[in-house]
Amino acid sequence: MSQPRYFIKTYGCQMNERDSEIMAGQLDQMGYQPSLTDREADLIVINTCAVRGSAEEHAFGYIGQLRQLKDEKPNLTLAVAGCMAQEPGTIAWLTKHAPQVDLVFGTHNLHQLPELLEQAEASDEMVIDVWQSAGEVVEHLPSHRKDGVRAFVNIIYGCDKFCTYCIVPFTRGKERSREIDPIVAEVSALAQEGYQDITVLGQNVNSYGHDLTPAKDLADLLVELEKIDGVRWLRYTTSHPRDFSQKLIDVIGASQKITHHVHLPVQAGSNPILKRMNRKYTKESYLDLIARVKDRIPDASLTTDIIVGFPGETEQDFLETLDLVRQVRYDAAFTFIYSPREKTPAARWEGRDPVPNPVKKDRLNRLMELQYQISWEANQALIGKEELVLVEGISKKNDRVWACRTHSNKVVLIDREPAEDLIDRFVPVRITGAKTFYLSGQQVGKPVSPPAPRRRIELPIV
Ligand code: 5AD
Ligand code: SF4
Repeated sequence: MSQPRYFIKTYGCQMNERDSEIMAGQLDQMGYQPSLTDREADLIVINTCAVRGSAEEHAFGYIGQLRQLKDEKPNLTLAVAGCMAQEPGTIAWLTKHAPQVDLVFGTHNLHQLPELLEQAEASDEMVIDVWQSAGEVVEHLPSHRKDGVRAFVNIIYGCDKFCTYCIVPFTRGKERSREIDPIVAEVSALAQEGYQDITVLGQNVNSYGHDLTPAKDLADLLVELEKIDGVRWLRYTTSHPRDFSQKLIDVIGASQKITHHVHLPVQAGSNPILKRMNRKYTKESYLDLIARVKDRIPDASLTTDIIVGFPGETEQDFLETLDLVRQVRYDAAFTFIYSPREKTPAARWEGRDPVPNPVKKDRLNRLMELQYQISWEANQALIGKEELVLVEGISKKNDRVWACRTHSNKVVLIDREPAEDLIDRFVPVRITGAKTFYLSGQQVGKPVSPPAPRRRIELPIV
């Protein structure tokens, strides 16, 4: 019999992407092979995201579409995983509207995928196994990495911050850090395989290590990871301004490897809104933090996340957000319209004091307009500068161009000689053009890194 094939559809953040890689690794070990499309798969896993209503709607839409495929191929197995599976509302919806689904499991038991699949195959009913809380951190799970150039490594799971709009503490549970040793071992193995650009991951990496004995912090971990030969760039995501310590700023400023890209989600610029979001900082203390970052890391590239239309947000509150954006001058911002989430305090306030939808949209547009202008100006200022970039692959839009990335996480497009393979190499370029979302450049010297071992990766995780 030919090997069964799997297809994983991933929604949401890097943590979900990483979870999908671990599911893919387990499936490889079970003898499955990846499929490039869902139509050819014998197993489809939908790894869902619950952070905003729009992400949920996409997943519901996709699950709905799969009904037809299941009718055509009754032996197809459909599994729903990820953050939405942790919500009781999703289970109720699936049972009522999506009987074609065979298996539902959550974020805390994805390491059980092989057993869960066996159960689902033996059962005529939908198998639902969602843990309400996390067990111990599980080490040594297999993994099938999606990206051939950059590698992502979990360091802390969960979040204890309980921002009042956010569902993550409910879907991902309490903060649990991995010990330093297995992280160092994983990154060393990746470096030996040739990965030079490593990102350590967590819902809130700045909390890393507080739950270990003896306690550790992110700066301690990064200092250990920097010592690993072969690692050229070290990144971390995502951060909370509240725990972004001076020690960490100093370590980043002094480091040759920890990239000078600092992502500090601010969410809002108004103090009353920040208070109701439970962010535990003020506009002033945030601006002070940014000033300390700029002082110690003068070439820092700053990015952020911002929510508009939080319940009760007034025009004055929103103007404070615009003012903060003008003061910080972020290189880029991820901007979102507030989306009420089940179980969160802000969802109750949304019932009493919502910002009308047209006002939410208008604020998002005004915020984006301001940020795009600032991003464009920041990129213009790079024209003429020399940058070292990592070549990630051929541009999706133009096969005569390499898509590369700077240490500050900006995309640079450079001309490509078809005969030369630069993938995974660090190349010096001069920036020759700048748009809002990307730069263009010209290669100005030979690659500074040797050819990396080829890790040609099929892309089954979409
Ligand atoms: N509505 C809108 N945006 C949200 N985010 C988190 N929860 C919500 C919500 N309920 C945004 C925050 C966070 C990013 C990952 O998603 O800005 O930093
Ligand atoms: Fe959500 Fe706040 Fe935790 Fe980030 S820090 S995951 S926004 S609760």
